[in-house]
Amino acid sequence: MSVSKPLPHDAAALHVTGAARYVDDLPTPRGTLHLAFGLSPAAAGRITTLDLAPVRTASGVTDVLTAQDLIHDCDVSPSNHDEPLLAVDTVHYIGQPLFLVIATSHRAARAAATLAKIEITPTKAILSIQDALAADTRFEDGPRIYEKGDATAALATATHTLDGSIEIGGQEHFYLEGQAALALPQDNGDMAIHSSTQHPTEIQHKVAHAIGKPMHAVRVETRRMGGGFGGKESQGNALAVACAVAAQRSGKPCKMRYDRDDDMIITGKRHDFRIDYTAGFDADGRITALDFTHYVRCGWSMDLSLPVADRAMLHSDNAYHLNDIRITSHRLRTNTQSATAFRGFGGPQGVVGIEKVMDHIAHHLGADPLSIRRANYYSDCDTGGMSVMTGTGTAIDHRTTPDTQTDLSSRGAPPAPSEGAAAQSVPLPAKGVQTTPYHQPVTDCIIGALTERLVETSDYTARRAAIADWNAKQPILKRGIALTPVKFGISFTLTHLNQAGALVHVYQDGSIHLNHGGTEMGQGLNQKIAQIAADRFGVPMEVIKITATDTAKVPNTSATAASSGTDLNGMATLVACDTIRDRIAAHLAERHQAKPAEVAFRDGTVTVAGETMSFAKAVASAYENRVSLSANGFYKTPDIEWDRIKGKGRPFFYFAYGAAVTEVVIDTLTGENRILRTDILHDAGSSLNPAIDIGQIEGGYVQGAGWLTTEELVWDDKGALKTHAPSTYKIPGCSDRPDIFNVALWDQPNPAQTIYRSKAVGEPPLMLGISAFMALSDAVNACGTTYGDLQTPATAEQVLAAVVRARG
Ligand code: MTE
Ligand code: MOS
Repeated sequence: MSVSKPLPHDAAALHVTGAARYVDDLPTPRGTLHLAFGLSPAAAGRITTLDLAPVRTASGVTDVLTAQDLIHDCDVSPSNHDEPLLAVDTVHYIGQPLFLVIATSHRAARAAATLAKIEITPTKAILSIQDALAADTRFEDGPRIYEKGDATAALATATHTLDGSIEIGGQEHFYLEGQAALALPQDNGDMAIHSSTQHPTEIQHKVAHAIGKPMHAVRVETRRMGGGFGGKESQGNALAVACAVAAQRSGKPCKMRYDRDDDMIITGKRHDFRIDYTAGFDADGRITALDFTHYVRCGWSMDLSLPVADRAMLHSDNAYHLNDIRITSHRLRTNTQSATAFRGFGGPQGVVGIEKVMDHIAHHLGADPLSIRRANYYSDCDTGGMSVMTGTGTAIDHRTTPDTQTDLSSRGAPPAPSEGAAAQSVPLPAKGVQTTPYHQPVTDCIIGALTERLVETSDYTARRAAIADWNAKQPILKRGIALTPVKFGISFTLTHLNQAGALVHVYQDGSIHLNHGGTEMGQGLNQKIAQIAADRFGVPMEVIKITATDTAKVPNTSATAASSGTDLNGMATLVACDTIRDRIAAHLAERHQAKPAEVAFRDGTVTVAGETMSFAKAVASAYENRVSLSANGFYKTPDIEWDRIKGKGRPFFYFAYGAAVTEVVIDTLTGENRILRTDILHDAGSSLNPAIDIGQIEGGYVQGAGWLTTEELVWDDKGALKTHAPSTYKIPGCSDRPDIFNVALWDQPNPAQTIYRSKAVGEPPLMLGISAFMALSDAVNACGTTYGDLQTPATAEQVLAAVVRARG
């Protein structure tokens, strides 16, 4: 039984010994050329002079290309055809690629790229949200509005109202492996590409256009990424296209990787937002009306900004049931890097908006923010006839052994509730009441029971009281604590992307070659899928070979994104494996005059009619009898449909839930702060691999907390990004993780029919980091009686400013 075991990541040993190969580690053929972009020094304007003579004559340079030298369409946009590989006449941000240097070494290319004489007649640069609103530069004709009920009317009759605003900073992905690509010219003008990308099919598509060939002439391979976090959904296009174009022109292999500074200056980041709110609520803090306005800084091109901004709107309810709500979203065009996908894809910004409202209402009413949150929760649901376990021992601690895992049937059926545990049904919500602001019924909610359990295990109530006592005695240091929930919608909102394929070969010796459409970026997708394959054939893990993602093996793939890598590719793999297994079973059943259903695959053996043979022997027998041992599998998510213009439908197959309690301390003299303790309870359904899932939860939390605390992007008044290296941009280090960090899984099967009833876990935990920000707000508010109105990122400066405000 390989599924549900906490096995290590398949490449863990390779990662930690430095033996794992990334694009830049691949041995390259002799004569490989190296590429670098020359970048725009101005945020907006017309190119009047581009003198490349000094670049062309620099040592090692073999060629220099501008937009005029590109014969085919070299657009690198994932959406709107608005991103030429190299600027044409006008420039749109500082860092935009203007020309491409091709040289005999990486250093020579980079050095030469700085030598051009560039003159740009500037036009007014639109840098901030305010600039874009004033100039009305936006994507789409006007704001997008999603509505349920009548927020205006409900606000007019609300008992209490308050309004406010929160600035939400962007975030640099800081994947450890920078963007990289390698193009190898093939027979007859075809092109093979190695790319550090979450989306090999997109690379194939863009490269094919750029070299003027059909997609069949281009093969893209991705073995692994050293992190993507959404930053490699679209941002790798430019490098792969540049390499392919240069390789076609020169006939030589071409490679490009961005140095860290270039990577930070050229590529898009998380969208920064301003969210304005007006909330109406009753004396208990129950929200009766809510009006949100999202201002989204999208940067210069469209990229994925529309679905990102949509997802922010789709998460402005988070775990709260709201009846009269309006969300207005302005997608603003600015002369900055084109903001892109980042873990949560806009969802986290939407969630910060509503959590700020909860915090603000609580302060206004003088209540514990947790009581306001709970008062507004969606009701827990009877999740498909299964019981919610409230007894002890049902949450899995990461220190416990795999034996405590529920044993799942190999057909992916939901397990029966474990006996002995105190099972207790949570009442169904009243019919027809519980829908999201986009009118999707919420039928799988468990946030109430999950919160209750986390309150107990984290000792929230006693600690909150102890913190209040401590704060009363401490003049300088103040502590804060906060519990915040997460409800995150799983599926691509662009419905047709919810499909996947897999290709499985069983060789004559019984070894298995596994391929699927997803990409590995450290999240453990390959490991989980290999466990699924091993389980389907009843073989040990060593039998399964996980192979690089390859557009020639599984075509027309979606990006590995929206946390759905395992949901989609895992199901496709199951289908492929079962096809082959059923063929072997049919063959053996015929030979032994048994029924195919009586052929059992387990522990590396196959048993039929009382005879047990090794899996390899069963395979050899099938081969000798001319049974096909190769199959592909296909899966598409059922029951989803979405109208993004109307803001109505069922965009998500299900929701993933979780909650975190964070305790912090701040120094009111300097604003410096630390996370002292974090307790997390997160819902990964029936976990396919608790070790990997807990890793995702810990990493997501730390990345979310970093976003909202130390990670600050600073652009100067000309639009130049000043924080383009780890020296000035502070991601969390090991020493910034909580001193006490308790992570547990809410072990209950997904009521939706997902792969082994697991739930997607890639993105939702990032939003658990919001509890760190809200704990800081709590500490700030302990400094006085005025609302501190903490803004993000809550750097020491921001905390200090909020302390001053709190003191009035
Ligand atoms: N975990 C690691 N270690 N590295 C990553 O780049 N990306 C995140 C998440 N977890 C990422 C990660 C993002 S943005 C997504 S969408 C999911 O993983 C994608 O993988 P999955 O769909 O297989 O969960
Ligand atoms: Mo993740 S932002 O969907 O790549």
